[in-house]
Amino acid sequence: MKILSIETSCDETAISIVEADGKEFKILGNALISQIEHHKEYGGVFPTIAKREHIKNLPILLKKVLKEASIENSKENDIDAIAVTAGPGLEPALWVGINFAEELSLAWNKPIIPVNHMEGHVFSALLKESKKNEFLILNFKFPMLALLISGGHTQLVLSEKHLEYRILGETLDDAVGEAFDKVARMMGLPYPGGPEISKLASLSPDHEEYKFPRPMIHHDTCDFSFSGLKTSVLYTLKKIPELTEDIKQKVSKEFEDAVIEVLISKTKKALTESGAQTFVIGGGVSANQKIKSAFQELIKEEFSETTLYTPERELSTDNAIMIAVAGYFRYIQNPEKYKRGIDIKADGNLSLG
Ligand code: KG4
Ligand code: ZN
Repeated sequence: MKILSIETSCDETAISIVEADGKEFKILGNALISQIEHHKEYGGVFPTIAKREHIKNLPILLKKVLKEASIENSKENDIDAIAVTAGPGLEPALWVGINFAEELSLAWNKPIIPVNHMEGHVFSALLKESKKNEFLILNFKFPMLALLISGGHTQLVLSEKHLEYRILGETLDDAVGEAFDKVARMMGLPYPGGPEISKLASLSPDHEEYKFPRPMIHHDTCDFSFSGLKTSVLYTLKKIPELTEDIKQKVSKEFEDAVIEVLISKTKKALTESGAQTFVIGGGVSANQKIKSAFQELIKEEFSETTLYTPERELSTDNAIMIAVAGYFRYIQNPEKYKRGIDIKADGNLSLG
């Protein structure tokens, strides 16, 4: 079946057309416009601007993907369903995608599948590029543990059955990507801060000048907290009269190390308690090479029975392909439900568990 998918939960507007047959996903069309330049001066995503840009971008992207896939903008086209992110995310931004999906659904007479963005991130790690524009879904084993680390989320989620999830732990305050972005902003680095911090950290020599806390590392839960770490960086920076490149590198390295230690410690607990056979990491922060390497090492050294999967580079940050894949699996579970039509609402806090 052919799915047209729409993603507008945050600051990327994306549409793709994916042909799915259960195992293979062929990308017939895929287009994305990043709004980073529009949000840079605010150091984070500004919801009204995100909404305005999504409204402007969606018709442009639709035209582009339909052309790429040689599909007509008409009721007679061979698209079978429209998948759209319904949450979590910024509600004004989510509504733009949902309203656009509803207009298309009405014009083309096709069903809509609401998709949980975080489920998209889980599937993004389970796709392997077999050839150009073709992905295979990996044959993974349950239980599957997912560490979802993005600008809005930090969660450890357990799945023991297809499309069923239980949250084992999550952040009590800031998400890990958010902490990267805020620390970057404190040092005058542009948004998004994750790639900037990790670049600086990689240039830092080993040192013991700065020491930040590892929040909740000794708590007997799988929950996280990053706001104390961020505040500790702020106090340290306030005491520094002149922020040199060398200091920025050292602070970045110690911050990144603190984040990694906490992520590893909580994940170890969740892997041990769940006996997970599969471990996936998803979300924008999974693009961080040092974080990826730390987990590869952990699995190799201490959980050799578990298989680790991480997303291909282009699928780690927000995209519409992962929404099409998650939408496909939801649809084939109960096509009649979607064909009858369901009332879709944006839910900024939509949960997986
Ligand atoms: O999943 P995503 O694209 O959007 C959300 O759903 O939030 O994640 C974006 C987040 C941003 O906070 C960004 O700073 C972070 O992912 N990020 C990184 C890296 N690349 C992106 N964080 C750390 N290291 C990176 N290399
Ligand atoms: Zn995301």
